[in-house]
Amino acid sequence: MNPAANLLLINILAASTFLTANALLQLQPARGAADARCKPHEREALLAFKRGITSDPMDILASWQKDGQGDCCRWRGVRCSNRTGHVLKFKLSNTGLVGQISHSLLSLDHLVHLDLSMNDLIGSSGHIPEFLGSLANLRYLNLSGIPLSGRVPPHLGNLSKLQYLDLSQGQSLYSTDISWLAGLPLLEYLSMSMVNLSTIVDWADVVNMIPSLKVLSLSFCSLITANQSLPHLNLTNLQRLDLSFNYFDHPIASSWLWNLTSLQYFNLAYNDLHGQVPDALGDMTSLNVIDFSLNLNMGMTTSLKKLCNLTILYLGACNLNENIKELIGLMPQCPLNKLQELHLGHNNIIGIMPSQMAHLTSLVVLDISENHLSGVMLGTTCSLEIFQLASQILPTFII
Ligand SMILES: *[C@@H]1O[C@H](CO)[C@@H](O)[C@H](O)[C@H]1NC(C)=O
Ligand SMILES: *[C@@H]1O[C@H](CO)[C@@H](O)[C@H](O)[C@H]1NC(C)=O
Ligand SMILES: *[C@@H]1O[C@H](CO)[C@@H](O)[C@H](O)[C@H]1NC(C)=O
Ligand SMILES: *[C@@H]1O[C@H](CO)[C@@H](O)[C@H](O)[C@H]1NC(C)=O
Ligand SMILES: *[C@@H]1O[C@H](CO)[C@@H](O)[C@H](O)[C@H]1NC(C)=O
Ligand SMILES: *[C@@H]1O[C@H](CO)[C@@H](O)[C@H](O)[C@H]1NC(C)=O
Ligand SMILES: *[C@@H]1O[C@H](CO)[C@@H](O)[C@H](O)[C@H]1NC(C)=O
Ligand SMILES: *[C@@H]1O[C@H](CO)[C@@H](O)[C@H](O)[C@H]1NC(C)=O
Repeated sequence: MNPAANLLLINILAASTFLTANALLQLQPARGAADARCKPHEREALLAFKRGITSDPMDILASWQKDGQGDCCRWRGVRCSNRTGHVLKFKLSNTGLVGQISHSLLSLDHLVHLDLSMNDLIGSSGHIPEFLGSLANLRYLNLSGIPLSGRVPPHLGNLSKLQYLDLSQGQSLYSTDISWLAGLPLLEYLSMSMVNLSTIVDWADVVNMIPSLKVLSLSFCSLITANQSLPHLNLTNLQRLDLSFNYFDHPIASSWLWNLTSLQYFNLAYNDLHGQVPDALGDMTSLNVIDFSLNLNMGMTTSLKKLCNLTILYLGACNLNENIKELIGLMPQCPLNKLQELHLGHNNIIGIMPSQMAHLTSLVVLDISENHLSGVMLGTTCSLEIFQLASQILPTFII
């Protein structure tokens, strides 16, 4: 919009609200050094960061130029403490920036929140800068989606106040020792998805030393085993666990995961877990979402009838050999049934589709495609919206 049109808009707005354009303009924050809260050394640090940026296609840092001598607390992506004027938050996620993460950020010594995610800030080394481990006040660090490579520096284990750490979606990051995580006793959120952890067998012991964890994502980490038993499970706060796309080539029952009774989201998809799902799953009553799809040769006879909060269950492509009637019989049986999606496609499920599924009153998606079913499906719930039957021989079905 050009300035004239802008002014016109302000005038229209002013007229319509009985305010003059003048009064409106006075509401805008005053500019200039007079009320600058920004600390000079922190402004210098930010300008040095800017000098490390080689491309800024969205002109994100343009406002920094204009206010070069002014209050850096007003710069895009920068938030200061109202009380002390120190920079507390620096957030420039998904802005297309190319360049390096300047060492100068160390001068932001009160920084609690650093989010540089989804930018091409890999510098010349391509590595996660070790100095980030010296930003001692950080509570939030997000480097997700930066195409970083190399070793995850153990220096991050010095960030003892950290609550959120997101290192996911790098290019080819790896770690051969994650024991430094034990230095983060307040950590609630940890994602290292796509970081290669293939040589680490004691990863369960390490994460078990962070009782504060609520979210743990170690998807696509090339982990080779979850076959472990922990003498004492400390992870009593864990709500979301994503271990999908690893190489757990052992019985599903011998993993250490079955006492995680606070879990709401439980993803073990695409591993090589096999054998019977243990009965303990039936006691994980907080579960909303279970995804065990793509684990070949699983057996499922565990009753889920107490899982009253379960909304989505993925058991596709698990080579299940069970009878459909028995499988449906395992599903939650609660006064208020919340199961909305049941994915059973691409298995060897046999039998006759049960005529009654009356207890599944909330079901909207039922995928039973690619199985060996036959029979009539009558009188099922009327809420069903998607019903996948591809290459299924079902003479009649009425919804
Ligand atoms: C700081 O000031 C801003 C704007 O005046 C206000 O929205 C924010 O809540 C304040 N923050 C604190 C911590 O007082
Ligand atoms: C980190 O940033 C990514 C992308 O901007 C976002 O999707 C993700 O939720 C963030 N992580 C945390 C812990 O906030
Ligand atoms: C931070 O961690 C690294 C590696 O774990 C260590 O060598 C270094 O001494 C630590 N620095 C401080 C200031 O604690
Ligand atoms: C992970 O690292 C191991 C050992 O360096 C390597 O053999 C493997 O190919 C890597 N995996 C991926 C997915 O890059
Ligand atoms: C898990 O729970 C079972 C009983 O349900 C108990 O025997 C076992 O010791 C527990 N394991 C851990 C690691 O807490
Ligand atoms: C967690 O449990 C282990 C035993 O598996 C124990 O040695 C350790 O001290 C516990 N850690 C914390 C932080 O509670
Ligand atoms: C799993 O762990 C148990 C006990 O530590 C061990 O006996 C067994 O061989 C392991 N199985 C696999 C497939 O690693
Ligand atoms: C089920 O969900 C409700 C609503 O979100 C929640 O209040 C309740 O605690 C949950 N039940 C369990 C066993 O987690």
